[in-house]
Amino acid sequence: MTTPRPETLAKLTPVLTKRWLSPDAWRIGTYEKLDGYAALRKALKAHPDDLIQLVKDSGLRGRGGAGFPTGLKWGFIPQGDGKPHYLVVNADEGEPGTCKDLPLMTHDPHSLVEGAIIASYAIRANRAYIYIRGEAVHAARRLRNAVNEAYAKGYLGRNILGTGFDLELVVHSGAGAYICGEETALLDSLEGFRGQPRLRPPFPATHGLYASPTVVNNVGTIASVPHIVLGGADWWKSMGTEKSAGSMIYSLSGRIANPGQYECGLGITLRELIELAGGMQPGHNLKFWTPGGSSTPLLTAEHLDVPLDFEGVAAAGSILGTTATQIFSDQDCPVYATYRWLEFYHHESCGKCTPCREGNYWMVRVYRRILAGQGTHEDLDTLLDTCDNILGRSFCGLGDGATSSVTSSLKYFKQDYLDYIEGRTAPRLSDKQLVGAH
Ligand SMILES: Cc1cc2nc3c(=O)[nH]c(=O)nc-3n(C[C@H](O)[C@H](O)[C@H](O)COP(=O)(O)O)c2cc1C
Ligand code: SF4
Repeated sequence: MTTPRPETLAKLTPVLTKRWLSPDAWRIGTYEKLDGYAALRKALKAHPDDLIQLVKDSGLRGRGGAGFPTGLKWGFIPQGDGKPHYLVVNADEGEPGTCKDLPLMTHDPHSLVEGAIIASYAIRANRAYIYIRGEAVHAARRLRNAVNEAYAKGYLGRNILGTGFDLELVVHSGAGAYICGEETALLDSLEGFRGQPRLRPPFPATHGLYASPTVVNNVGTIASVPHIVLGGADWWKSMGTEKSAGSMIYSLSGRIANPGQYECGLGITLRELIELAGGMQPGHNLKFWTPGGSSTPLLTAEHLDVPLDFEGVAAAGSILGTTATQIFSDQDCPVYATYRWLEFYHHESCGKCTPCREGNYWMVRVYRRILAGQGTHEDLDTLLDTCDNILGRSFCGLGDGATSSVTSSLKYFKQDYLDYIEGRTAPRLSDKQLVGAH
């Protein structure tokens, strides 16, 4: 393991992670000692429109993957419409490789609760939900405990801190489906239906939960809000880059010495992140990586110095996504990795639309054939053709995301495919594993 240089260490910007190592960081007493709920007191003295403006000025963009400007989203909620408004926090975190929201909710759940209260006040919502995936039992327990503590202290419920603002906050556990992270499928699931995406328009801003105006935001987005309220828009913008402002939790996994969460200003590079993580594991050289989970096109060792912000990654031909960098070495096979991801998308496809439901099914079968040493050159064209029929033709982003690693691995690592097809690489799957693609 190598030690990061001081100038690289200085790039760590613990904001959302700053309390994580404090003893009992998840308890309200610790949280309050460390500035907790000070932002709420400040926010409740401001006009809700001024809070929306503050978030717009900060340049905060959604941390759930698409990077939509948060203040703009809040501003879409119609006011004076006489309908109930809802805030829904997306805590599903199902994107493979992503591990930033669950540790945040485990270590510092009150920052999410506080952010949810401020956001609800800004959009004039009196009911908010945190939709957390069912498997995340430990994080849900911490979150429910934090919500109970906040009720007991008068931060939630009726007449919060004597301001006349009421808010009920409900933690709802989903059943554990990747598609329920897609915001409209999440809303259907929350309403008690099978989680499948809704046709848009209308958008959740006008027809969301129970057909009422709704903001859906990621955990990291909402947990950033108290920091922005206390620190101000200029302070937030002092981190990150011009169009991708602020601090971001990067989750690093794979062939590095110290996998985990590293919080830095947006725009840090993978080279710097690997240095922060103590370097690659001994004997491993970087071969490919995802900048933002398995739904984002693979990058290679050529891209070590790409700024990991929304614009920088897009310019390199990929997507910043959830900043889940999964790091693979020359001892890993991009064909096999892509196959494993495709098994995931095939399993998680909700089945609503044909391109994704059928396309992923067929691509899994083609990969199995290639990995069993029975692939043909034509299979590579079939894969690209199938991706062409999924990308942009699917009902939601799951289908698009499934094609990312297929097309990018074929772009950068065609030789690895040919090595299986032409017999230079030993088959990875047996004949028995060829069947059973259901
Ligand atoms: C298949 C799929 C899964 C998604 N999963 C998540 C998720 O687990 N968490 C999340 O915040 N956003 C997820 N999203 C993005 C959401 O639809 C939505 O854009 C996000 O919650 C908006 O919040 P933000 O503006 O704060 O980023 C997913 C999108 C798709 C297409
Ligand atoms: S793209 Fe896939 S997950 Fe999305 S609606 Fe179609 S079948 Fe369902």
